[in-house]
Amino acid sequence: MSTARVFVAGSFNVDHVWRVATLPVAGATLGGDYAFGPGGKGFNQAIAARRAGADTRFVCALGDDPAAQLARTLCANDGIDLQATIAQVPTGTAGIYVDAAGRNCIVIGSGANAALQADAVARSLQGIGTGDVVLAQLESPLDTVAQALQTGRAAGAIAMLNPAPANAAIDRAMLGRVDILTPNETEFSALLVRHVGERIDADLVSGIDQQRLHALCRELVPDGTVIITLGSSGCFVSHADATLRGDTQACYRISAESAQVVDTTGAGDAFNGALAASLAQLPDAAFIEHVRFANRYAAHSTEQAGAALAMPYLAAL
Ligand code: RIB
Repeated sequence: MSTARVFVAGSFNVDHVWRVATLPVAGATLGGDYAFGPGGKGFNQAIAARRAGADTRFVCALGDDPAAQLARTLCANDGIDLQATIAQVPTGTAGIYVDAAGRNCIVIGSGANAALQADAVARSLQGIGTGDVVLAQLESPLDTVAQALQTGRAAGAIAMLNPAPANAAIDRAMLGRVDILTPNETEFSALLVRHVGERIDADLVSGIDQQRLHALCRELVPDGTVIITLGSSGCFVSHADATLRGDTQACYRISAESAQVVDTTGAGDAFNGALAASLAQLPDAAFIEHVRFANRYAAHSTEQAGAALAMPYLAAL
């Protein structure tokens, strides 16, 4: 086991969750069971990385309010090194509907997350180095995300970007800063339209022929690895020929692990956090082993309701 660390720069939200029979359509008024809990893609990924065994630092912006205290308490309980900027706006929030099949739709109120500054992230990443992993998502300002990736990479760390949510418009320069990109099919579809000029419906991505999918990934991130997470269809991995990361194949599919799905909220975050943790801890393992672990970890996370608190501890795997 290596002592390398995972540095997650990103969002913390308080998730307000309604469990409903079916997701609402315009004009609908529905009844549902309500709960709230910690979330935010950044925080969920930090909790996953930590519970998957890695020393983890979480860099974020919080309000000066009780929700910020929730983040502090949870980080202390799980042993996460929290580096938080305090903003003069409320801590981030998310409204989430989860249907009977565990599918969700989410509305985000950025709040303090929009105040996470690039220079604060650069300061909080001091000490990052070779073998560490820096992991970012797109619920923070894009220049801050770019700074996180650039600072990590310049120091020899692996730069991982989970390009979520799909509506955040990243540029080519951002893709050029990434060692590993982890879109889901919706995010992949959005990136293809923007950067490759291909319009492919998200629902059709998992059915694309392997070589075609590989070629599209190569166009998107010529020098990096792309992992497309495909929900119940597992995931697809595409490497640049020059950087197979210990694998013997430049592209392959991995099937989904079976799970008794209760709630898929945060499953992508579970995958990303677990992948980062595995990369940091087992630098000599073939990449496919990291992906298999992340796949298994993410499947287990769907068996509990909630986002951050649904991240399994290693013992539960
Ligand atoms: O990925 C799931 C997360 O998205 C939720 O926890 C919510 O806060 C939004 O950020």
